[in-house]
Amino acid sequence: MMNKKVQKNGAMDFHVLPPHGLLNDPNGLVHFKGLTHIFFQWNTEGTDHSYKAWGHAVTDDFAHYTYHEPALLPDAPYDKNGCYSGSALVHEEKLYLFYTGNVKNADGERESYQCAAVSEDGFTFKKLGPVIGEVPGYTAHVRDPKVFRGDLGEFYMVLGAQREDLTGDAILYKSSDLQNWQLLGSLLEEREELGYMWECPDLVRIGNQDVFLFSPQGLQEDGYRFRNIFQTGYYTGRFEAERFQKDKNSFDELDRGFEFYAPQTFDMPDGRVLLLGWMGTMEKEKEEALPTMREGWVHHLTIPRELRVNAEGKVLQTPALELMRFFREENVVSGKDLTIGRKESFLLEVLNEHEAQRIRIRVSSDVELKLEDRWFTVERISWLDGKKEIRQAPLPLGLKDLKIIGDHTSLEIFINGGEEVFSLRCFDDDSDRMISLVSSETVTLKISGFQKD
Ligand code: FRU
Repeated sequence: MMNKKVQKNGAMDFHVLPPHGLLNDPNGLVHFKGLTHIFFQWNTEGTDHSYKAWGHAVTDDFAHYTYHEPALLPDAPYDKNGCYSGSALVHEEKLYLFYTGNVKNADGERESYQCAAVSEDGFTFKKLGPVIGEVPGYTAHVRDPKVFRGDLGEFYMVLGAQREDLTGDAILYKSSDLQNWQLLGSLLEEREELGYMWECPDLVRIGNQDVFLFSPQGLQEDGYRFRNIFQTGYYTGRFEAERFQKDKNSFDELDRGFEFYAPQTFDMPDGRVLLLGWMGTMEKEKEEALPTMREGWVHHLTIPRELRVNAEGKVLQTPALELMRFFREENVVSGKDLTIGRKESFLLEVLNEHEAQRIRIRVSSDVELKLEDRWFTVERISWLDGKKEIRQAPLPLGLKDLKIIGDHTSLEIFINGGEEVFSLRCFDDDSDRMISLVSSETVTLKISGFQKD
């Protein structure tokens, strides 16, 4: 395949979006030969989920992206119904991709193959074919290989899976050559009962803490938790003796917003762990009503977020520093009743020096944020039916700081150094770019504009 560039059409300043058609999961995130490669599930043919190739965007600063021809197309017998999600690994100066070949066989049944591809330059890939087929004890829902190097230089692959009793699981394989893979069994030490399928598993070391992230399907809504159609969350623990041992039992959601799913992490050369997610999975009728359909593109990725783990074992997410450098301060105001203008892409920072008990922020014509009784609430007017929908998180220690990053049709909200994050799409009235805030105490608002130069 030629290393040709692809023109991007949709209007967003610093997010990865499909040049046209539909995007879902981030795939194969990797730093290779001085560039960050961001692959993504891409329907090049339309705005539904019927076709899956690997789109390809490249950046060296997380603000300017060049889009290239798809790295993988579903054109082989073992991936003809979709080159599904997967990961990348650099080995002996070559870039390897691992992905799931999705096949509907002659009887209309699903078959899944874990496949590999390799590249010398990071742009032209040669398919190496399947390395893993059916897995005993599991249905054909086995996918999304995340490959990583163990401490002794061996390779591991974690896969999202469904057991034959229709419960979700993650399974682990091992290899010394990336070609021959040995099944080690379930990744987790103890059997989990969490939904009917786990997608996009990711095992990562952050500092000296191992974290297992995954996207289970089939969880029941539970108060303010699990409000979306599918969820993404994590366990902290220890990857030892080829099993993951959890520190505690709670499955914590990574993002409290409306649109966030199927994230993937990757290592930067300076040791930081970054994450990108898909914004995001949603009900079919909501997806079909997305206003960007008119412009011929659907969905985008989150901004890159740096991950840390705090002393309580909570994963913190903060916007990657590379991106933050492109925001230039425009205005700062203090008081209890404030109004400030914003651009279509902006960074709003709220500094709450005196621990305000109540705050109400109108970000746009369709989004309001509220702090009340140590609960943070995001209210959005749905683009589907004009009804109000909410997402919430408790803030037991109150609100200390708030960063809102907006880019045309999306908001990412980071609270208290990234302890809570809300990601959401919003399609406000274009002419209305005023943010207003009412607070029980004096707060400071700082607005910055995104400037690409
Ligand atoms: C998650 C997912 C993955 C799959 C891919 C297909 O959103 O369903 O499990 O590989 O999307 O596009």
